[in-house]
Amino acid sequence: VNHLLGIKYLNKKDISLIFETADHFKEVINRSIKKVPTLRDITIANIFFENSTRTKLSFELAEKRLSADVVNFSAGQSSVKKGETLIDTVNNILSMKVDMVVMRHPNPGAGIFLSKHVKAAIVNAGDGAHEHPTQALLDSYSIREKLGDVGGKNVVIVGDILHSRVALSNIFALKLQGANVKVCGPKTLIPKHIESLGVEVETNLKKALEWCDVANMLRVQNERMDISYFPSTREYTQQFGVNKGLLDSLDKQIVIMHPGPINRGVEITSDVADSDQSIILHQVENGVAVRMAVLYLLASKIK
Ligand code: CP
Repeated sequence: VNHLLGIKYLNKKDISLIFETADHFKEVINRSIKKVPTLRDITIANIFFENSTRTKLSFELAEKRLSADVVNFSAGQSSVKKGETLIDTVNNILSMKVDMVVMRHPNPGAGIFLSKHVKAAIVNAGDGAHEHPTQALLDSYSIREKLGDVGGKNVVIVGDILHSRVALSNIFALKLQGANVKVCGPKTLIPKHIESLGVEVETNLKKALEWCDVANMLRVQNERMDISYFPSTREYTQQFGVNKGLLDSLDKQIVIMHPGPINRGVEITSDVADSDQSIILHQVENGVAVRMAVLYLLASKIK
């Protein structure tokens, strides 16, 4: 069985194939064809052990647009609360003839663990601070759409790199496609030895923005911190928040991205998030086509 557990397990050709397939599905959606019969005999379970707005809805829409049968599971309203294990939970769902599992889980490596213990294709919809592969795919797809290519572009990922699965998956995806990548944030929120992934560290936001073509702004993930990593939100915003004045002081127009959810006024001001420079809602739109492509390519291996 083939899975999508992380960008780490893909190569450049895999990414190109996903993007070409997503192009096809995006064209279909743009022609107002909301549903294709491609996955009519496939059943997919979306199992979410962590909150989600974009990823959950985007996968469900992608599945329904491919005509798959869909069941949704939220851990909070399930028998996980009575002590049922992850493997038991998933094996019970699979015994109802489910073919694929899309899973979000707070533990890094949860998808990898599951893939070794159950007989179904697993799609990682975010595992703790580890990977969020479909987010990175839709991010690169959106850069490709906006700038023509990802290769050779300068991309800075700004914010809480230490706790971010979006950052790690993006670094893998961008490097595979030949982009130049820097990370920018407080030293306390940048993992040690991150340079070993082929990225540079820049702690001055203005310098990072002057260098880049694209800035991907991340949220500080307070829910993943057990100690205070940075003195205050106000100080974070002053040093690492992007605002219109800062963008206007650059001698070029850069592309602004954000995976969501946004903390308006913290890492990004509303006048930037809602500006023409921002492709935030295009990222969300592209997520459906990219996830359709991922599901279609995986399903074609289990049919
Ligand atoms: N970008 C993202 O993963 O958003 P959600 O947590 O709302 O799914």
